[in-house]
Formats: sequence, C-alpha cells, structure tokens
Amino acid sequence: MGNAIGTKLLICNGVLVGAEGNSREDLLLENGIIAARGVFDRTAFPECTVIDATGKYVIPGGFDPHVHLSLPTPAGNSCDDFRSGSLAALAGGTTYFMDFVTPVRGQSLMEALKLRRIESSESLAGCGLHMGISEWNISIAREIVPCIERQEIHSFKAYLAYRKSIGIGYDDLFELMKVAGPAGGLVMVHCEDGAMISRLQEIFLAEGKTRAFYHALSRPAGAEIQAIERVIELSAESGCPVYIVHTSTGKGADLIRQAKRDGIRVFGETCLHYLLLNDSRYDPFLDDMSVLPYIISPPLRSAADQNLLWDGIADRTFDVVATDHCPFNLHGQKSIGLHDFTKIPNGAGSISHRLSLLYTYGVLANKITVNQFVDLVSTRPAEIFGLGQRKGKLLLGFDADIVIWDPDYEGVITAGGGNGRCDSEIFEGFLVRGRAETVIVNGGVFTT
Ligand code: URP
Ligand code: ZN
Ligand code: ZN
Repeated sequence: MGNAIGTKLLICNGVLVGAEGNSREDLLLENGIIAARGVFDRTAFPECTVIDATGKYVIPGGFDPHVHLSLPTPAGNSCDDFRSGSLAALAGGTTYFMDFVTPVRGQSLMEALKLRRIESSESLAGCGLHMGISEWNISIAREIVPCIERQEIHSFKAYLAYRKSIGIGYDDLFELMKVAGPAGGLVMVHCEDGAMISRLQEIFLAEGKTRAFYHALSRPAGAEIQAIERVIELSAESGCPVYIVHTSTGKGADLIRQAKRDGIRVFGETCLHYLLLNDSRYDPFLDDMSVLPYIISPPLRSAADQNLLWDGIADRTFDVVATDHCPFNLHGQKSIGLHDFTKIPNGAGSISHRLSLLYTYGVLANKITVNQFVDLVSTRPAEIFGLGQRKGKLLLGFDADIVIWDPDYEGVITAGGGNGRCDSEIFEGFLVRGRAETVIVNGGVFTT
C-alpha cells in the first residue's frame, strides 16, 4: 500500500459521484486528505502522481459497518482475520469497515475492548469497532457512558438470538437503550426472537430432524418480524435510536418504513445475500454440503421477500447495504454441523463483492441510481456511525479514501477470487459489471 505522508495525487478527467449528484472535476489529494477539487491544468502540479480517470467514476471509498473478522465460535474463529479481511475489503473498494467487540460473559467491556483493539490494529483498511453487549448487569451498565465519553465508541450491539452465548432478552435490551440513548449512543440489534428459535431447535432435534435445512425452518420469518416489532416499540418508548442489522424479510422492511414515518429514530440495514439469494438454497433435495455455505442468521428468505427488500432499497427504507462478512470454511468449520444443524457456524463472506454486486444488480438493473448506490455503501453508513464529517463524501478536507470505479469491467465471481480466505463462495457464478479499479486509502494507492 502506498504511503500517504508526502504523497500528492491528482485524479483527473473522472466523473465524481456522490450521494447528491455527479460532477466532472479533478481531485488533489495531499497528506491523506482531499486538498482541492476543481478543474485543473495538470502541468501546474509537476510534483503530483497523476491518475487518469477518463471513462471512470470517482466515488468515496466504501464504508461497511457490519463485519465479523476472527469472530470466536465453537467451530473456531471466522476464517478471515483483520489482515486477510481488510485486504479483501480494499480489493472490493471498501476502505473503512466496522467490526465488533464481543465480550464473553463475565468479562468487562474495557478488557474486551483492549484485546480487540490489538487484533484490529492488523487491519490495512480503516477500521472501527462497535461494542457488543453479551449480558446485562450493574457493572456493564456502568461501563456504557465511559465507552462513549472516553473510548469514543457510540454504537452498542445486542443479539436477541444466540441466547446461550451472547444473546440478551428484550428487558435487558430496554435497560441498555435507557442508558445508551441519553448518553448519545446508538443501539444495533440482531432481530430474531431467541425464545422462538430455541423452542423450534429443541423440537427438531428431539424429532431427529438434524439436517442443515432445518436451520432455516428453526428461524422462520416470524422470528425476525416479532423481534423488529418489539425493538421498534422499545426504541419509541426509550427514545434511543436503533439500527436494525441484516433485515431479511419484506414485513421487517414494512415495519422499519412505518417507524420512520412515525418519527421513530430507526435505521435499516440489509445485506446483498438477502437481496440476491433466496431459500431455494435450502431445498431438502440438495446435498447437505452444498447447503452449508448458506447457513446464516437470519436465513435466506423467499423470492417475494427479495423483491420487497429491493423496494425498501429504492424508497430509502434501508439506509445501508452491508455485508455481515463472517466467513467459515466449508471443510472443517461448517462441516462440523453436518449431522446437527445447531452446530453449524452461522455466517458467510462477501466483503470484496459488495460494491460490484450492488452496482450490477441495483444500478445497472435500474433499481437504484448511481447516487443511491454511493449513499448506501458509503455516505449514509459514515453519517450514521459518526464519521460523516470525514468520510463518505468527496469534499475538501475529507479523508482521501477514494475509489476509481471502472463501469466497463465484466467478470464472474468464483471461490478463491479475492474475497478473503474462505474455501467456498456464496455468490459463485454471479456475473458482475463494474469494479473498484484503483483504491486509495488514507491518501495512498492500495496495491496487493
Ligand atoms: O449468520 C450470521 N449473520 N453470522 C454472523 C453473526 C451475526 O449474527 O451477525
Ligand atoms: Zn446478526
Ligand atoms: Zn453480523
């Protein structure tokens, strides 16, 4: 990767694309920031390295607020660490991402944060952290305000699923909201009703129904819908803003849309896999090994849900398209749960494909404009997570995190094609048009 210090770059002849509109201007990058924007005579900048962006878009670097690198699970850590995951992110045009501190029960937030910061310092891209709340008690409650005021961590993540390990219930979530909200915090929630899922898992296992596709049957759409409904009520009651991660259902999108109309401070996120894949991947006639890569939570939904999620993208119900990048190898990790679906580690990776897939299947399919694309993958997440004054826009003084986008590239996604270290690929065979041709992070050109 190039070194930003002392580097001067001039990006010429491209079309600058922002959430608000396009313009034909050049950009001067100096010392890691955007130092000037206008139409320049390049001979006036003999000291600059010039990047000719003729025929290309110039967009703010991607900002992915939802990834899990080296996430500990009983099947081992998710198989990208901060080094490999950040390389995959940069290759796909994401220059900043946010991961999570996931304290084990009994561990203080500060202790977990200290350790996670050591791991995340390996990232080659910009990287921020959200604080996970894996249990609720008086000492955790006392750490929330210091997290915000002394550690500059403003976002707290609660899981309503995974009740045996890191999940909490609605009552504890409400307590978290009442402490975090007034202190300026944002609460992110994995919305799947934990009790409903535990009940269904027990029933299936007792009946000997252990195959991979029971994962999806044990996590029905109703589990998400019920949780989103309740979380919105808790947000309205507490006044705490909430961010609903990885929304997978059309009804969930409806609830978020209505909450926004009602003036409740709710942000909506969905992911590429819910937009582009569906529950046909769980067909009982499929070989279980080919189902395992798609074991994610919430599971993939119906084709009808996919369409409704796209509607939510188009009408801005969703603020963000994230990846929830959390890959596990098929062999040796996912396969651990071959004979018990509850033991399959949940998650899949897509960090290097997020921009190309949304561009291809959103912009080129006329579902969203190129400006909405930039908003969804960069501008809006930067604003929501407190970096809107530095990232997500091509403005003077903003961080020089920039992507030169080649709209003419055509390719096919394959396993081993640069999306991290995973041995399988959920978007195998997908055609893409458009890619991050040159990626500039912190003012330096990223090269592998
Ligand atoms: O299946 C998923 N999404 N795994 C990652 C953890 C989470 O729930 O976001
Ligand atoms: Zn989740
Ligand atoms: Zn996640």
